[in-house]
Amino acid sequence: MEVIICSSYEELSRAVAGVVADIVRAKPDAVLGLATGSTPLGLYKELIRMHKEDGLDFSKVTTFNLDEYVGLQPDHEQSYHYFMRENLFKHINVDPANTNVPSGTAENYDEYCQQYEQQIKDCGGIDVQVLGIGGDGHIAFNEPCSSLASRTRIKTLTEQTIDDNARFFDKKEDVPIFSITMGVGTILEAKKLLLLANGANKADAVAAAIEGPVSAMCTASALQLHPHGMIFIDAEAAGKLKMREYYEWIQTQKPTAPAS
Ligand code: F6R
Repeated sequence: MEVIICSSYEELSRAVAGVVADIVRAKPDAVLGLATGSTPLGLYKELIRMHKEDGLDFSKVTTFNLDEYVGLQPDHEQSYHYFMRENLFKHINVDPANTNVPSGTAENYDEYCQQYEQQIKDCGGIDVQVLGIGGDGHIAFNEPCSSLASRTRIKTLTEQTIDDNARFFDKKEDVPIFSITMGVGTILEAKKLLLLANGANKADAVAAAIEGPVSAMCTASALQLHPHGMIFIDAEAAGKLKMREYYEWIQTQKPTAPAS
């Protein structure tokens, strides 16, 4: 996996947007896997800017989001449906019919989860998956001990995730306890993974993901199993990495590396 340490959150957001934009330009009907939370907001702002100023075209793109809170209607302000509409979809020319966010109000979740997986397959799989990382090392809502082979399913949130996400709700009691989430196995099938993290509060999780053992205790460590994983972090999030100088050295030497 490639570790890219950026000097600021803005630089990180621009770097990731550059990778996503290159994929969309090369394949206009690309399938994008998207995340919510505070981390990708800068990325989405930059993609919106690229659409408005540089004509980046999303008209043939399909999107699949990682997760949703169970019990929240799509118009609930803390739902991930609402988040995606407000922070990305309504600002670009993606066809709303081609945007997919898991339903938090399905009648039969077993059936619905299988359908969601099938829809991803029917679109040819995800070309690039954007990921954040939780303080407990989760990707999507795959909390510690989630199987590294897991598929889309219902997951109970940890107390730490509920505490972390309480900042978006009026009170902690309003944070849903259950989520519907792509599994680690689902995520690993994407052709490329881009994990983003900024801030010192992510430093332990980032170190465990990059340098710790591959373990269900830190589901982001599953990125070590992926042949095309890129991790974009700022200096604070890189604060606990043992091999930091090496990752920086690799980036410095990249322009002179043999063409692959
Ligand atoms: C959300 C998601 C979560 C977040 C993670 C970090 O779709 O997949 O795994 O990426 O909880 O959240 P923030 O970015 O708010 O720190």
